[in-house]
Amino acid sequence: MTNQFDKKSQAWSALFSEPMSDLVKRYTASVFFDKRLWDADITGSLAHAEMLAAQGIISAQDHADIQRGMAQIRASIEAGAFDWQLDLEDVHLNIEARLTQLVGDAGKRLHTGRSRNDQVATDVRLWLRGEIDAISGLLAELQRSMLDVAEKNIDVILPGFTHLQVAQPVSFGHHMLAYVEMFARDAERLADVRKRVNRLPLGSAALAGTSYPLDRERVARSLGMVDEHGQAQVCQNSLDGVSDRDFAIEFTAAASLCMVHISRLSEELILWMSQNFGFIKIADRFTTGSSIMPQKKNPDVPELARGKTGRVVGHLMGLITLMKGQPLAYNKDNQEDKEPLFDTVDTLKDTLRIFAEMVGGQVDASGQRSGGITVNAQAMEQAALKGYATATDLADYMVKKGLPFRDAHEAVAHAVKTAQAQGVDLSELPLATLQTFHPQIQADVFEVLSLRGSLNARNTLGGTAPAQVAAQIARHRARLD
Ligand code: ARG
Repeated sequence: MTNQFDKKSQAWSALFSEPMSDLVKRYTASVFFDKRLWDADITGSLAHAEMLAAQGIISAQDHADIQRGMAQIRASIEAGAFDWQLDLEDVHLNIEARLTQLVGDAGKRLHTGRSRNDQVATDVRLWLRGEIDAISGLLAELQRSMLDVAEKNIDVILPGFTHLQVAQPVSFGHHMLAYVEMFARDAERLADVRKRVNRLPLGSAALAGTSYPLDRERVARSLGMVDEHGQAQVCQNSLDGVSDRDFAIEFTAAASLCMVHISRLSEELILWMSQNFGFIKIADRFTTGSSIMPQKKNPDVPELARGKTGRVVGHLMGLITLMKGQPLAYNKDNQEDKEPLFDTVDTLKDTLRIFAEMVGGQVDASGQRSGGITVNAQAMEQAALKGYATATDLADYMVKKGLPFRDAHEAVAHAVKTAQAQGVDLSELPLATLQTFHPQIQADVFEVLSLRGSLNARNTLGGTAPAQVAAQIARHRARLD
């Protein structure tokens, strides 16, 4: 008796009359990338076997043999000793064939009531769930690192920009918190995606369900595929369960947004560390020199992160296009979901890790941070003094003295013109000059025209006043604890 595995290099079964060519074998095989799913594959198989035994579909002895064989396979993969074979196409057939070698007929019974279609969908979901949890942890780390930087720099003032033109002074802590907000939403999105990833396709079999009396909810519970009430989460339609990859697309969309946020931060870091800004420095280990210009220190890490954003967004486009036009149910197209998904996870994890350290530095055993970005508070403040950043404050001051806002806006435009002509800041104009723009301007205007006065004035929820920034930091810390 031959089985499909030892004859695989020639044909699938008695039905085939000629062997697969080497090129087709290579073209259709996935083992060299999907072997990464081995842990999920074994975990899923063990849960399936346990249920088959509990339902009396296989014997207790078969179940024990499967457990023993899988333990051996696990150990050999972990030791790097497993012999992955291209001839066996993918991770599933490689592991099953080895199991059968090790434990005989029990190995051949594992696939009862199962297809590789529901098997692979289950494996990808299990694997992705673990990665989402890891990414959520890294996102929390990055947020903590940025909160520390924010806290240290609540009172540091830099120009806030609109259209990259100096607009109004803001706290550097406030600026950092804008990114914390973005990363917090990224974490929320991932948590939401996780709910839909964490559902069980197994039991859908090839596409139509199975004639064996499977207990799908038992398998779901043993794999931790439960909702917050402990309710088993099972794909409710077999055709859908084996075929849709929307969960992978959703994940990649969430990952893309997170990379877009990283990319915006990268762009700012790159600008800020340029000679023209001189706002910050990042540690030398995140920069490289130039092979021709000895004076250069290039911000390679943020530049690469900005570039890798394109790669992740590309994976999103790849996956969404992969799905489009596929008829129900499973199609081999879906094998192409893996590499983009794997690369998305790897890219995002590395990027989050490196950013947490580049921005916030390393945390030592005593919880002290060191080695993050160095902030040049003086350069930031100097820049904020340049572009008439407190012009809005002067207009607001006039409004408080009774002038309608539009008139105040116009009066301040004249004041800025005058200051520009003299090459000075608004706060450097004599009181008498300022009074020519509005007679009720008093000496207290100079407090309003100062950067700190401007900051302190914006003391409403979400504003840049140091008191607001401190309150937000406390809120985020409580959320992350
Ligand atoms: N390697 C395949 C994949 O990644 C496993 C499922 C194969 N199913 C099939 N009917 N050929 O999708």
